[in-house]
Amino acid sequence: MQNINKNLNILIVFGSTLGKTKHLAELSGRTLEKMGFNVIVKDVFSTQIEELFHFDLIILGCSTWDDGMLQYDFRDFFSKFVHYKFHRYKFAVFGVGSRHYPHFCASADIISGAVDSVGGKLVCEPLKIDLDHDEPIDKCDHEMVEWTKSLASNLV
Ligand SMILES: Cc1cc2nc3c(=O)[nH]c(=O)nc-3n(C[C@H](O)[C@H](O)[C@H](O)COP(=O)(O)O)c2cc1C
Repeated sequence: MQNINKNLNILIVFGSTLGKTKHLAELSGRTLEKMGFNVIVKDVFSTQIEELFHFDLIILGCSTWDDGMLQYDFRDFFSKFVHYKFHRYKFAVFGVGSRHYPHFCASADIISGAVDSVGGKLVCEPLKIDLDHDEPIDKCDHEMVEWTKSLASNLV
């Protein structure tokens, strides 16, 4: 951990319908802030693709809906994102979903595949959070914090 570059600016963009992904994005943001990073957390609904270029690490978080599809607000952002180039930019991806559905956390696979296609570099394995809309919102907090700390340790 001693070689982590804490001067990095980090953007977390989330797409969330019922608030679970929003909660986890904000938790990740607070965790990174406590570690000394500069972090902005934004709803995908109000995020322009061009904003991403101002950050050293971009974390994309999105829930899965409608039989394996991206969360509704994320779809428009995503359809633009795939037409840009992000060579040398660092990314991390987390998906939120439920194992009760056949395409568990498909959002994480879809987005991480797109990051690769636009030339971005994933700094860690995508996280798939099993948290349904009717479960306690803090059920996966520990998992999120641990993943966040682990991705931070890859930022040299
Ligand atoms: C109608 C409906 C469809 C869903 N489809 C999927 C799915 O295909 N795959 C999955 O992993 N989760 C699925 N989920 C679970 C949601 O992703 C989960 O409830 C998540 O917590 C929602 O997060 P959000 O509030 O941040 O949008 C679905 C939930 C609902 C209510």
